[in-house]
Amino acid sequence: MGRKLVFTSGKGGVGKTTMCANIGIALSILGNKVVMVDADIGLNNLDVVMCMENKVTYDIADVVEGKCRLKQALIQDADFPSLYVLPSFHNYDTANITASNFKSITDTLSTGFDYVIIDCPAGIDSGFHRAVAAASEAYVVTTPHISAVRDADKVMALLNGYPLLNIGLIVNRVRGDMVVNGEMMTAGDISRLLKCTPTGVVPDDDSISIKSDIMRHTTECEVKQAIMILAENISSGKRHIYDCTNDYRGIFGKLKVKIRKMF
Ligand SMILES: Nc1ncnc2c1ncn2[C@@H]1O[C@H](COP(=O)(O)OP(=O)(O)O)[C@@H](O)[C@H]1O
Ligand SMILES: [Mg+2]
Repeated sequence: MGRKLVFTSGKGGVGKTTMCANIGIALSILGNKVVMVDADIGLNNLDVVMCMENKVTYDIADVVEGKCRLKQALIQDADFPSLYVLPSFHNYDTANITASNFKSITDTLSTGFDYVIIDCPAGIDSGFHRAVAAASEAYVVTTPHISAVRDADKVMALLNGYPLLNIGLIVNRVRGDMVVNGEMMTAGDISRLLKCTPTGVVPDDDSISIKSDIMRHTTECEVKQAIMILAENISSGKRHIYDCTNDYRGIFGKLKVKIRKMF
């Protein structure tokens, strides 16, 4: 049976879909068979980030309604043959997709894949419950901003009520220059506040704004290294944390901090 990981947050816009897409690609680069399931039903961001929106023939609602078999709704990635996406329903009516039929779909997928990655919607309503109840492990994504951390704290408390094997923490969009200057919370600060050891720390990087599926591209950048380390931590249970402040230490680092402040 494969592992079923849900990426959740409470607050929207912190990078859940971006993390799902890129960690999914990284896990498939590491040799795993991976399927990503978009539980943000109605908004279908995952197939857009994965550049698959034009390939969608069937979606999760068609599977639930018996219009197609589960296998027919899966879209295979063009670059990574061991990576698939199950797209979400393209309409806002989510009534037919109950927590129990969502769970039965992810359970079935876990028999044929090493990883089932579930992209959770923002908020803590029924969409959150549907996504989390189907998972065996949860990863809370937050940015180092107080509103995101506060929402992550609420989500952590809710997750404790589910029979999960592991709850991890991903601190996304860390600005090394601001951490060095004491202007941004560190992953350590956030970890202490949330009482959860980080599984990974990901720098704020414009490369992601330009190419949201950055792991697919050959461009070498900080964020790719950090996501690969994070995916290795997920698969091996290790805790190697990418140091986002590396580039901003020493004489040249201080110069970089000054230059970044100017723009
Ligand atoms: N590490 C990062 N550096 C820079 N931009 C990022 C990073 N992670 C996510 N983003 C950007 O933040 C925005 C929201 O990300 P998204 O994954 O859609 O969030 P969510 O799924 O939590 O709503 C997107 O424009 C994405 O490109
Ligand atoms: Mg999203």
